[in-house]
Amino acid sequence: FVIGVDLGTSAVKLLLVNKKGEVVHEVSREYPLIQEKTGYSEQNPEDWVTQTIDGIKELTTTFPGDTSEIEGLSFSGQMHGLVLLDDQNKVLRNAILWNDTRTTAQCKEIYQSVGKERFISITKNLALEGFTLPKLLWVKEHEPDIYAKVKTFVLPKDYVRYRLTGQIHMDYSDAAGTSLLDVAAKEWSKEICEQLEISISICPQLIESHQNVGKISLEIANQTGLSVDTEVFAGGADNACGAIGSGILSEGKTFASIGTSGVVLSYEPTGTKDYEGKVHYFNHGEEDSYYAMGVTLAAGHSLNWFKKTFANELSFEQLLDGVGEVPVGSNGLLFTPYIVGERTPHADSQIRGSFVGMDSSHTLKEFARAVLEGITFSLNESIAIFRENGKQIDTVYSIGGGAKNHDWLQMQADIFNAKIVKLKSEQGPGMGAAMLAAYGSGWFHSLKECAEVFLEDAETFEPIEENVKAYEQLFILYKKVYGDTKALN
Ligand code: XUL
Repeated sequence: FVIGVDLGTSAVKLLLVNKKGEVVHEVSREYPLIQEKTGYSEQNPEDWVTQTIDGIKELTTTFPGDTSEIEGLSFSGQMHGLVLLDDQNKVLRNAILWNDTRTTAQCKEIYQSVGKERFISITKNLALEGFTLPKLLWVKEHEPDIYAKVKTFVLPKDYVRYRLTGQIHMDYSDAAGTSLLDVAAKEWSKEICEQLEISISICPQLIESHQNVGKISLEIANQTGLSVDTEVFAGGADNACGAIGSGILSEGKTFASIGTSGVVLSYEPTGTKDYEGKVHYFNHGEEDSYYAMGVTLAAGHSLNWFKKTFANELSFEQLLDGVGEVPVGSNGLLFTPYIVGERTPHADSQIRGSFVGMDSSHTLKEFARAVLEGITFSLNESIAIFRENGKQIDTVYSIGGGAKNHDWLQMQADIFNAKIVKLKSEQGPGMGAAMLAAYGSGWFHSLKECAEVFLEDAETFEPIEENVKAYEQLFILYKKVYGDTKALN
């Protein structure tokens, strides 16, 4: 058995997985977000540790055999969050998370000091509020006393791994989201550190996601009920682990994940493709490979907001029941899901969403369908960027909440103009983490071999030509709304 620990933003989810890739037990433990001011989003790293240990304890307590059969453990982690440690490896302040947007000024400063083009050519990404480097600069500027004590910075799952093993590392897939990594060369960028007067010594040792970092400590073994021989593997960024857990392990493979935010992610075999920062470009959890990724900030979040505001008495099933009967285009109603700003393709935290074309005949069903269409159009903007850059996208694996509804799956096939595949059992990043532990433990020769055993396709949805044509026209209109509504904000 192996354990996949998925350290998310609202909870840690733990999967106990056997050699066939079956999830034999799953537990989850929540922790709070700390939002002291608008745009601030923090968490107490101690909460991650306590809840992870508590979750492992539940897994071992209910485990029917000897816990020494649990051979290994690895992680998937929320990306970009800044955890600052002093020379005793004590946490210096709350972690500043990926969805914290206080750092617009620091992003500008990065371009001024390094040069925008140069910065993008090193990190393969734009300087975005969510990423780690601007948060580090924010602390340096606003909390100099804390900054003076910083010995090392790590990302959320790295901190939990440190507490389980006593070892500090960062894997390439997560380091890629710090804005301090030379993504193609796989090393910390001396140039960026120097230009921004950051000591490169605070950057931790880099490691591959499947690499062994040692065994859990005796204290953790005692606290969790795991054997002291349990091996720990580095793990990866949640999107890299989501890619592994849905088999995105060769050129052309792409997934669309609709959770709170939406992600379209496509495999890249090299570190050298140039998207000019239009989409994210990160190191994969598979050694020496990469992925390109576009993000819709409010995907499931838009649907949640809509339900809570206009139809809170209904369940999601009730709200979406019947959207398949509303025609393509929601009888003239169009939605843009920019309710908390947008990342791809606009990188604009100020833009806000819209409903366009409201008619007195429209009912809740048209609105619900328009919300789904708007979210899917936004994801399609990322797919369009991939295609404009020569990527062939024929098949998209749909995962997350968006894969739960058949009408939405068909809509994805029609809007993306691609075959949509739904996996038989889909555990996303937690499964990717378990696969890293399985591969690291020597169960398989490669992650691809592991995916062949662990993952299975269940259903497919083919694009319907008539719908594809209608959506192509609507997509042109959708893309215009951004520019036409920008001045409102
Ligand atoms: C990726 C990103 C999010 C977080 C969520 O760039 O910000 O997907 O990784 O955990």
